[in-house]
Formats: sequence, structure tokens, C-alpha cells
Amino acid sequence: MQYAEFHSGFIWTSLTTAILGGFAFGAYLAVVIGYGLPAGQGFYALIQTHGHLQLVGWAGVFIMGISLHFIPRLASFPLPHPERMSRILWLMIPGLLLRAVGGTVLASLEDSPIFVPLSWLVGASGLLEGGAIVLYVSLLMETVRGSHAVRRLPALSAVKPYFGMMAVGWVLYACLNLFLLLHMALNSTSTVDPAWNEFAVQIFVSLVLLPVAFALSVRLFPLYLALPAPDWPVHGTAYVYLLAILLQVVPTAPPLAGLAPEAIRSVVALGTLLKGGVILWFVWQLDLLTRRRPLGRQARFLEPGPDRPPTRPGLPDYGEFGRFERLVYAAYTWLALAAFGELLGGAAILLGYSIPIATDAIRHMYLLGFITHLVFGASVRMLPGFMRRKRVASAALVDATFWLGSAAAVCRVVPLLSPSWLFDLLPASGVLAQTSFAISGLLGWGAVLCLAMNLRQTADAPMKQLSGHHWTTPIGHPRSGQRPEGGGLS
Ligand code: HEM
Repeated sequence: MQYAEFHSGFIWTSLTTAILGGFAFGAYLAVVIGYGLPAGQGFYALIQTHGHLQLVGWAGVFIMGISLHFIPRLASFPLPHPERMSRILWLMIPGLLLRAVGGTVLASLEDSPIFVPLSWLVGASGLLEGGAIVLYVSLLMETVRGSHAVRRLPALSAVKPYFGMMAVGWVLYACLNLFLLLHMALNSTSTVDPAWNEFAVQIFVSLVLLPVAFALSVRLFPLYLALPAPDWPVHGTAYVYLLAILLQVVPTAPPLAGLAPEAIRSVVALGTLLKGGVILWFVWQLDLLTRRRPLGRQARFLEPGPDRPPTRPGLPDYGEFGRFERLVYAAYTWLALAAFGELLGGAAILLGYSIPIATDAIRHMYLLGFITHLVFGASVRMLPGFMRRKRVASAALVDATFWLGSAAAVCRVVPLLSPSWLFDLLPASGVLAQTSFAISGLLGWGAVLCLAMNLRQTADAPMKQLSGHHWTTPIGHPRSGQRPEGGGLS
């Protein structure tokens, strides 16, 4: 059996959803909230639609595309039914479209005769997306099961619990999403139940997005960033993380949340503390920000030889992917900040205090700061190779993505963390905070647009032009010579 070619449809779907849906809606929400404009009917429905499109359409579909290419190679077993990849998209795209349109217009049609049929169409979006998710998870499971060599593949077994969490998280989220949408249609409302929606969002972030980001980081960054190969208990860390998530998330399920509120608050705080701690431990062990340990086997790529010109300082590439590492460092800085915030928040509650860190700030540190920057960095570094190109089209656009993305995350999160006494002391800082919150969405939207343009140009570049023996680095000078072997999975 042959390994299937990379299916770039996932990436274009993810980028289109982000540009036309998730980030565009976020930009509107941020302007309205930032400047305190009248929110209007259906504003909360728009928040829910933004959240769903960003989680599933932007981050989720991107992860689907990468994992369907990456996991079979990690498991040394090709996808048994590669034709199913297109079917996943045939279900997912109309599902996302129905949700985007329905979620936006439903609230303004409450008195119209088309409200009921439209709300059932939004319900159908849950069915379509659920179908896509089940197809995706089953395809991955068949691949991993089919790999007779799984036990002999330490590279896969170390990260299997993370992929296991991801599979469970996808299915749980798909079921919750479907039931919530059907419940919404039955009750003729334009928003889904807020408490259950919050629970579903937590499940998706904690069980799908974070674990898969950790697994990909452990497997890819030693290669792409010349980090030491992991010699720490990657497997065990996943179980501690899972325990933390069970403590933090399960008690917030609406049927449990009302029982023994004090005890539940303490359990959730303990889970939050443990989650923050285990993520900080993970970041420390990954050594990406700290660089404490000697370099791994990739270090040999850093040494110039007769047929090997010097690579970029400390990195195993010649700059043909732009300064992609800055996106990854930004991602991990946001992750460490979010985890530290959770650690502090959890510890404070257990000690009887309360630290006013907004849940929304922590959420966007994880989602916009960490996950989105990781998607940016991984796209720029991996996708040219997946698309059989040797470099990204424009290093300047990589820089633009970095600056716009970082500005978006700072503007989205910092105003929420600023203490109220600062606004009393310096009234101008209030205006600054409002304005930066308001423009954060536009900045984020710009970052994704730059990434999309860059990837489109990369895909459109003729293959032969980019795969010649002599090639020009986007950073620095023309070089000739071989590409370092660090490109691994491309
Ligand atoms: C600069 C970009 C972004 C802006 C301006 C933005 C803006 C917002 C706003 C204003 C809210 C409502 C907050 C509230 O209820 O007080 C929100 C909620 C949310 N956002 Fe974002 N966001 C951005 C990026 C993202 C990204 C990248 C993701 C995920 C990958 C995301 C996922 C969510 C989720 C899950 C919610 C909660 C939705 C719900 O309550 O159902 N956002 N966002």
C-alpha cells in the first residue's frame, strides 16, 4: 500500500472558514464589545457561531488535514481508505456553511415563518459535521490498529495517549454539538444552551486541541528546531494531564454543577492547578523556550561541511521557510502564560483567595495565542514540503503573519488582564485598552490572510522552479547545496 498524497483541501477549507467566518465574526464582536456599541439581537448567537467555527472549522479542520498525513507515517501504515478523506470534507464543508449562515441569521428571523425550517437546517449541520468527525476518527483508528508494528514504534507509542484523548474529544464534542443543536431547534431558540455549550467548548479545547498540539510538538520540533529528542516520560505526562482535565472539566457538566457547589469549586480548582502545572512541566521538558539540554542528533545539520553550507544559527534550515520559529516561540510563550494563569488561579481558590483572571482571557491565550500561532508556524514549516515545494513563497509574509498574529493576541488578551485601578489612575489607558481590544480581530484576520496568501503562492509556484539543486533562501543569500535532512515528514 502507498502513502496517500497530502490532501490540501483541508487546509483551504480551514483558511476559508477562518477568513470568511471565524476571524471575520471575531473582528465584528471585538469592535462591538470594545467600543460598547449596541449589541443587537442575536449577538450571543454570533459569539457561539464564532467559537464553533474557530474551534472546528479553523483549528479542527487544519488538524484533521495534518494528522491524516502525519499519523499514518508515524504508524508506518498507510491510510487504508484514502478516498474517505474527500468524503470527510464533503460532509464537513456543508456542515460548517449551514452553521455559519444559520447561526448568523437565525436570531433576526425569530418571528418569521422560515425560522423553524432554518433552525432544523442548523440542526442538520451538527449531523453533517458529526458524520465527518466519525469518518475521520474511524479512519485514523483503522490506520493505527492496522499498524502491526505499533508496539515496536516508540515514536508512536509515546504520543498515543495524546491521540487517544483527541479521538475521544472529537467524538464527545460531535455528540454534544448535535444534541445541543437539536435541542435548540426543538425549543425554537436561536442559541444553544449556554452551560452545555461552555462544557462542549472546554471538552474540545482540553481533549482535542491541546493534546494534539502537544503530540505534534514532541514529534516535530526535535526535527524542525534542532531540539534534543525527548528523554522524559512523554507518555506518563499525558496521563497526569488527563487526570487534571477530568478534575477540571467533568464537575462543570451541568447536571453535576449544581450539586455541592463548594466541593465542586475545590475539585475544579485542583484540576486547574494541576493542568497549569503539568503544562508548565511539559513546556520545560520540551526545552523549546529554555534550550537547557545539549542538541539532539539534528546538531550535525548545524555543522557546515564541504557540500553543506552553514544553516541558520542554531537551526537546521537555510531560511527557506522564513522565520517560522518565531511563530512557534510565540505559541509556546502564550501557552506558558496561560498555564501559569491557570496555576495561579487554581492555587488561589484552594487557598481561599480569588485572582481576577477572566476565563475569556485564558481561553484566548490558549486558542489565539497558542493554537493559532502553532498552526501558523506548522503551516509555514511543513506545508511547502507536504505540497512538494522546497520553500515557502514569501518570507516577508511569514514575518507579517508573526507581527499581526502577535499584535492580535496582545490586543485581545492584555486589556482583559489590566487591573481596574489602572484605568482610574490613567483614564487614557481605558481608551487605549478599548481600542486595542476593538482592533484585535482585524489584526488576527490580517494574520490569517497573510498566511493564506503565502500558502496559495507556495502551492501555485511551479514545482520544478522550487525543487532545483540551486535555490535562493528567502532570508540571506543565494545558496547552493543540499537541503538538510531535517525536513523529515515532507
Ligand atoms: C483576534 C481574534 C479573535 C477575536 C477578536 C475574538 C473575539 C471573541 C469574542 C469577542 C468573544 C466573546 C467573548 C465573551 O463572551 O465575552 C469570543 C469568544 C470565543 N472565541 Fe474568540 N476571538 C478571536 C480568536 C479566536 C480563536 C483563534 C479561537 C479558537 C481557535 C476563538 C474561540 C472562541 C471561543 C471558543 C469563544 C467562546 C464562544 C462561546 O461562548 O460559545 N476565538 N471571541
